[in-house]
Amino acid sequence: MADAEKKKKTDKGDPAGDVKWVRKDLLGLRDLSVAEINLILDTAESFQEVSQRAVKKVPVLRGKTVANLFLEASTRTRISFELAEKRLSADTIGITGSASSMTKGESLLDTAANIEALKVSLIVLRHPSSGAPYRLARHTAAGIVNAGDGINEHPTQALIDMFTMRQEKKTIKGLKVVYIGDILHSRVARSNIWGLTKLGADVIVCGPKTLIPWGIEELGVRVVYDMKKAVRDADVVTLLRIQLERQNETLFPSLREYGSSYGLDSEVFRLAKPDALLMHPGPVNRGVEVESALANSPQSVILKQVTNGIAVRMAVLYLLSGALPND
Ligand code: CP
Repeated sequence: MADAEKKKKTDKGDPAGDVKWVRKDLLGLRDLSVAEINLILDTAESFQEVSQRAVKKVPVLRGKTVANLFLEASTRTRISFELAEKRLSADTIGITGSASSMTKGESLLDTAANIEALKVSLIVLRHPSSGAPYRLARHTAAGIVNAGDGINEHPTQALIDMFTMRQEKKTIKGLKVVYIGDILHSRVARSNIWGLTKLGADVIVCGPKTLIPWGIEELGVRVVYDMKKAVRDADVVTLLRIQLERQNETLFPSLREYGSSYGLDSEVFRLAKPDALLMHPGPVNRGVEVESALANSPQSVILKQVTNGIAVRMAVLYLLSGALPND
């Protein structure tokens, strides 16, 4: 990107600076500086143009192999990583939990060592345990991309969300961004909180008391339990799914009761700014966290988030590949 364009972004309050990418892994937004986050977002802008070409391919990762190791269910993340890899001309392999030898007792580290022995440059890992990608990154020379680890982080999803906000609102600084739902189990909320607060957004979390982690204010967010108060004058409202698969105890009476208290409908959404964005990382449970018609409304950018996933993941893979030792 030209220096003049970088300067322009600096003037908008989102400095990309002159940072050089040196990390072989993308594990979480907790670890990244403002300049590194902006570098990814700016790089994604450049890659967006590739998806509009007749031949949607660039030779950036030609000769490199990327393994997608998904040990938990995924639709959007897995498909968009695969598309991003193919558009960068990488060779790709996909391994899912049920089809891997981990079902026969092999450890994650041994699985990764075997993948690495096959000269894989980058491993995209989704894992049900928080911290698994960090452990893998310490034990392998391959670059590791965290595609969601337990309830810890989902950095590429947060980068997609920030990219979409920046695309629609021009700058993130000063935006009022509200998260409603199961904050306790949401790696998407955690990654967005790290990223958005660094970029100067005013972040509010909202949901039943049992689904708001104790002490979350220490991350620089405000907690508002009343949904109408939380949504009032918001620039962005993001709904989160109730993650029943991560709940070992009953944290609210029923999904129907959750929906009647914290499901967003048009009447409450009208309290947000007239041009507010409605976001959701997916998968959406229509009629629970959001009214179905609202999810399809012109203010909903849910499918734009999905589309933007390709450019953002291309940017991440491109930057990490540049920091890998030659293989
Ligand atoms: N947003 C997201 O992580 O969706 P998937 O679980 O379908 O990948």
